[in-house]
Amino acid sequence: MDKIRERVKIRNIWTKNRIAVPPMVCFHWSDDNGYVTDKNLQHYRDIAAGGAGLIIGEATAVSKRGRLHETQLGLWEDKQTEGWKRLADAVHRYDVPFLVQLLHAGVSGIEKEADCPSDYILRDSNGELRARGCGMSLSRVHEVIDDFVQAARRAQLAGLDGIELHGCHSYLICQFFNRNINRRDDIYGQCREKFALDILEGIRESCGDDFVAGIRLGAFEPALEDGIQNALTLNGKADFLDISYGFAGESFSYSPEGYPFSDAIYGAQEIKKWMPDMPVFGVDGITDGEMAENVLLHAGIDMVDVGRGFLVNPAFGNDILEGKDCGKCLHCRPACRWSPFLNDGTVNCPGRNLFLRNQK
Ligand SMILES: Cc1cc2nc3c(=O)[nH]c(=O)nc-3n(C[C@H](O)[C@H](O)[C@H](O)COP(=O)(O)O)c2cc1C
Repeated sequence: MDKIRERVKIRNIWTKNRIAVPPMVCFHWSDDNGYVTDKNLQHYRDIAAGGAGLIIGEATAVSKRGRLHETQLGLWEDKQTEGWKRLADAVHRYDVPFLVQLLHAGVSGIEKEADCPSDYILRDSNGELRARGCGMSLSRVHEVIDDFVQAARRAQLAGLDGIELHGCHSYLICQFFNRNINRRDDIYGQCREKFALDILEGIRESCGDDFVAGIRLGAFEPALEDGIQNALTLNGKADFLDISYGFAGESFSYSPEGYPFSDAIYGAQEIKKWMPDMPVFGVDGITDGEMAENVLLHAGIDMVDVGRGFLVNPAFGNDILEGKDCGKCLHCRPACRWSPFLNDGTVNCPGRNLFLRNQK
């Protein structure tokens, strides 16, 4: 397992190894004000101590209106910076670079009449109305771009190394990318990548050269060809591409029959072929060190994201590097869909409970 131990340069930072912990929301620990709590602090300290090569902090709202959940962390006001400074200090103590994922949920958030590139009706799996997307005016588009830039500036003030834009999984930036949702006839519809590009440009102007700004992008938005096109437009503008899935229900993921890893990893592999100099991350279903190493070698990507593995075992990174039992996610998806951590701090994760029992 040599590849996984290597460090990767992303703009002005070096990762500790090739394992990134991707953003994972920990709802219920904060409240309606979106402030960092001691539980968040303990959580990030544990995974930093546990061998992560890079940590991308959970999806964090750039405005109250753009939230995905009422108890989501935020960076929409200056006072929230203090809590993020505590997180950054705790993570940096282990020499792990620390980014935060910035999110506006658009039609996939808590608002029933929500910001969206164009009018759009979002339905749940039973066909019931979940939210109504209201096409944003040009001035509203500019306001939201500024919300992202201001949130990035706060992250920088807090001492973080950079940000990742949440540009996939059905949220606002992804809604702009996806032609099934973005039917605008102005410049933000003629060039669907412009929304993300303007945010990145604003962050670069506001935060300067020594601040990482990458994006989590759907490989299939709605199809792989679109994902590749989006990635090519962002090449040279974003500092890394963290490749995942597109807008649920409005995108079509796939991989060739017999492909040994997830569709998202296949998408990352195909995107990487077009941009050898761009750090590209892949994700989904990596459960142990051997698999992580094989993904790096086979897909030719730069970093592997391990999410649920670190929820099962916060020392996942150290354990795979030392060849120890790292535990296993049992893929009981509903249990950790919103958060594996309950309000009282207990863990609702069968994989983690099993791992802890086996350690005794
Ligand atoms: C509890 C939980 C919270 C998540 N929160 C986020 C998030 O805030 N932002 C995001 O882009 N993805 C989020 N995801 C998706 C993960 O980042 C990751 O892509 C997914 O879990 C697949 O990787 P894995 O198989 O290594 O867990 C979340 C996943 C889980 C399980």
